[in-house]
Amino acid sequence: MISAATQSNPMSCDGRLILVTGASSGIGRATAVLLSRLGARLLLVGRSQEKLEQTLAALDGTGHRIEPFDLNETEEIPAWFKHLIAESGPLSGLVQCAGVQHYTPARFITVDKINRMMKVNVFSTTMLAKCCAGKGAVLPGGSLVFIASVAGLVGDAGLSVYAASKGAVIALTKSLALEFAPAKIRVNAVAPGCVETDMLDKMRLNLTADQVQALAAKHPLGFGTAEDVAHAVAFLLADTGRWITGSVLTVDGGYTA
Ligand SMILES: NC(=O)c1ccc[n+]([C@@H]2O[C@H](COP(=O)([O-])OP(=O)(O)OC[C@H]3O[C@@H](n4cnc5c(N)ncnc54)[C@H](OP(=O)(O)O)[C@@H]3O)[C@@H](O)[C@H]2O)c1
Repeated sequence: MISAATQSNPMSCDGRLILVTGASSGIGRATAVLLSRLGARLLLVGRSQEKLEQTLAALDGTGHRIEPFDLNETEEIPAWFKHLIAESGPLSGLVQCAGVQHYTPARFITVDKINRMMKVNVFSTTMLAKCCAGKGAVLPGGSLVFIASVAGLVGDAGLSVYAASKGAVIALTKSLALEFAPAKIRVNAVAPGCVETDMLDKMRLNLTADQVQALAAKHPLGFGTAEDVAHAVAFLLADTGRWITGSVLTVDGGYTA
């Protein structure tokens, strides 16, 4: 049944409990703020308590909580998640936005850099999906959104390991969508192009001014904002996305066009 809130605003997330990882910064923070304006209650995850509190202070509504956690602790994720759900009740949505990127031209690849990117970007996404498959973890009608990247779709020199991690997220999304569909839970990915956040600022440090200009030129609409991605995530979480699963939504200012 479509609620009154959804009838008046198809993107309403009224009363839905949504867990957002990476909520302490950039895209995750903008997503949490937007979802709170759409009526959701948020569980905010990241490592920095201070930055999570800043996000919390920017939210509309009540009933939100910060849950500092290091997603590098892959083996701890199931127990942590179980505790979270026992305290908060089942989720209506999950946004896996936590991620790291390290610029790694092939000759500078190390096992440590592979581990660092795979752990957060792939292992934690996989383990969170496992947790969401648990009985009573996510309500029917729920929606999981993983933040991938255009790097998982299109080659980018110096980013092969990051690209592999985001390609893995896209592959996970498609198979999980099929697996979760009988439970009426949707799984989609959003693949952003370059977005003005701390991550892009860090990437700029490894590039010359000419390289930054060339990167900008690959985005016909210019670099994006965290809010541009947040809107796409909210669309997939809300009933507006109710017939969409297994999709990869590029939000990239035309980069992949
Ligand atoms: N910005 C872009 O151009 C761009 C483009 C395509 C895709 N993306 C993807 O978008 C997502 C968000 O990136 P962003 O641009 O918003 O970057 P950001 O501002 O650097 O935010 C990254 C977030 O990930 C969290 N995080 C990292 N490692 C973590 C860990 N071990 N445990 C828990 N949280 C962790 C950080 O929280 P703490 O620091 O508190 O741990 C932070 O909230 C990432 O998955 C990224 O790959 C970004």
